[in-house]
Amino acid sequence: MSTAFAPGKCILFGEHAVVYGHPAVAVAIDAGVEVKLEFSEQWEIRNSYHTNKYVEFKAEKNPHIQHIISEIFEYNGSPLRINIQSNLFSAAGLGSSAALSNAMGAALHQLTKPNEEINLIKLAKIGHSAEASAQAGRASPTDSATSSLGGCIVVSGEKIESLNHVYDTKLLTPEGERSWSIHSVELHKNINDAWLVLGFTGEAAPTGDMVSGVANRLKENPALHDEMQAIENITKAGLTALELGNLEAVGMAMNSCHEKLKILGVSNESLDNMVTATREYSFGSKLTGAGGGGCMVALTENPERVAQEIELCGGKPLISRFGSRGAKIRKE
Ligand code: PMV
Repeated sequence: MSTAFAPGKCILFGEHAVVYGHPAVAVAIDAGVEVKLEFSEQWEIRNSYHTNKYVEFKAEKNPHIQHIISEIFEYNGSPLRINIQSNLFSAAGLGSSAALSNAMGAALHQLTKPNEEINLIKLAKIGHSAEASAQAGRASPTDSATSSLGGCIVVSGEKIESLNHVYDTKLLTPEGERSWSIHSVELHKNINDAWLVLGFTGEAAPTGDMVSGVANRLKENPALHDEMQAIENITKAGLTALELGNLEAVGMAMNSCHEKLKILGVSNESLDNMVTATREYSFGSKLTGAGGGGCMVALTENPERVAQEIELCGGKPLISRFGSRGAKIRKE
């Protein structure tokens, strides 16, 4: 038997702009996905998102897992009983499919190579490959890198000299080859005094639709490219504030980022309501991820009060430490 856990993520700065090569900052959150593997008589799966009982494993219903089993590990051993437990909101922009892919990769590594320590960069690449294969070749490495490495991660189109460079990665997409540099950020100890509170609107908005909406608006109004550059400037200011432990400045950068995302047309009423309601008790708050629904995030020293505000707005709160640990094997 083997068990592994991989966290979800939230984007603090730079969503949407990252699609155009600008940097994005993401942090791992406490919630995530646990995968437990056991040898069995037949292939079966239990996924806490869908069911309480084991059902037959079907490749087409589980493309991320199937890719990892057959393409990455080329596993042809005994059938497996796969148990998936998640405490992430699904389809909410919290990186649940990358967390699932990373946890599956780590658990299968532990089962097949129990004496070989897992390499988190390799695991991030496995997760990215599974996401790309399940999403017609289009996936940014943000979710898989943040979930595998943990902490605070910066993804950008080119290397950023002032940051700790971890690895480069590329992907052949239908639009041609794309490459990214992944960096880690040393967080100041003051950041430990703050919490992230995520608020799920309950509305799902597919990331692909939100990204193509922005692309259309950019075509109609090329001046919006200036807003992308403004998001990059805010992202860099936010990064400096994270490194210096200046929570007020991190919050201000979050607030400014939300205003720019509104101009790009990716916020909505529920997100705006929760962002406004939580600001009184936070350093800052903004939508996180693709927008159009999904989640917002607030940075605060008063997580219970912020969670209450989110509930009063009709959202579902999730309280997390800032930049949790990455993927890990869980010893029985
Ligand atoms: O839906 P999420 O949280 O994975 O965020 C998507 C972030 C975008 O910048 C909108 C798209 C991307 O590929 O980076």
